[in-house]
Amino acid sequence: ASSTEVDVSSIEPGQAIKAVFRKQPLFVKRLTDAEIAAANATATGSLRDPQSLEDRTKEGHRDILVTMGVCTHLGCVPLGAAEGEVKGEYGGYFCPCHGSHYDTAGRIRKGPAPTNLEVPEYEFTSDTVIQVG
Ligand code: FES
Repeated sequence: ASSTEVDVSSIEPGQAIKAVFRKQPLFVKRLTDAEIAAANATATGSLRDPQSLEDRTKEGHRDILVTMGVCTHLGCVPLGAAEGEVKGEYGGYFCPCHGSHYDTAGRIRKGPAPTNLEVPEYEFTSDTVIQVG
């Protein structure tokens, strides 16, 4: 299986970039302090797919959110990575196909998607580089 390397050093807080992992879109986002706070302020147990930001990020790198850019409803590519302001009602990503709203941790909050945006297997190979897969 092939892996993908992404240098996260040039991603600004609040910005997400799109990469490709196993021929599918991959989103890599650097969260702002406000986005981290919003994610941590949400009671995990109230979520459709209960996961904390800690569950979805790596220790020492809580500001780097790595998810597949594939809506868990029917597979559209959500907006909010390269499109700037189109972030939906929960400040993360928004899938326009049928209206799924993901929060700043990429968790499903509203709309038909059954689960959070998938976090692929990845690791930091240095302070600024991740290897996905
Ligand atoms: Fe995203 Fe249906 S594919 S809401």
